[in-house]
Amino acid sequence: MNSNRKPIIAGNWKMYKTASEALALVNGLKSELVGVRDSDVEAVVCPPFTALYAVSTLLQESNIQLGAQNVHWEKEGAFTGEIAAPMLKELAVRYAIVGHSERRQFFGETNEGVNKRAKAALANGIRPIICVGEMLAQREAGQTEAVVRDQVTGGLAGFTKDAMLDVVIAYEPVWAIGTGKTATPAQAQEVHAFIRELLAAMFDSVVAAKVRIQYGGSVKAANAKELMSQADIDGALVGGASLEPKGFADIIKATL
Ligand code: 13P
Repeated sequence: MNSNRKPIIAGNWKMYKTASEALALVNGLKSELVGVRDSDVEAVVCPPFTALYAVSTLLQESNIQLGAQNVHWEKEGAFTGEIAAPMLKELAVRYAIVGHSERRQFFGETNEGVNKRAKAALANGIRPIICVGEMLAQREAGQTEAVVRDQVTGGLAGFTKDAMLDVVIAYEPVWAIGTGKTATPAQAQEVHAFIRELLAAMFDSVVAAKVRIQYGGSVKAANAKELMSQADIDGALVGGASLEPKGFADIIKATL
């Protein structure tokens, strides 16, 4: 971490929790986070769409922010099964995950689509969390930087320097997601530093120094502190460990 960048820990609940289960989880999390100041760390929960309304109500005036797990690029239209940015905005959604590897792998999302989704989020005052990361075979073939470069440049095509200040990037090596196999802090730091250099080349060093880059992939309370101690790791995008209040709160507190 770096004191110029406020840490951001986001919980990606994926396809877990009904609306009532979501309320129980958020109530538990609120109790765990009493006394944690949102000026020190941004805590974000990204429940399934069906729970956003209920959770939004519960989070009013709390130190936790609301995120969505995806967002469509059009403001409305005949796109069965998709959710538009103005719909999220009305529920006080502040962040939207885009380009998660599960979306890329199972639902055919491309860098171009990720780019359009992220732009639509920004146009509605929602900060995109743009996910990038290589698969195991790509890492083993020495393609990590090429894959990440492609995803970062594609996802951020056409972005202005100003817009970049509202963008969060999440580096999630696919082989570390849900496997219990975290990247070592050094492995993660190496790719984070690479992404920051890329941002400096694409925009400038001021932008690169300001953009927050989260690590994701089997983050839990036990490994969070060491990951966060790396210079270019500014937070975490947490899957499984965000489904339990104490475990997630401990990850948030590991940034303090
Ligand atoms: P896990 O923390 O369960 O490995 O998931 C990471 C992830 O995909 C967050 O978006």
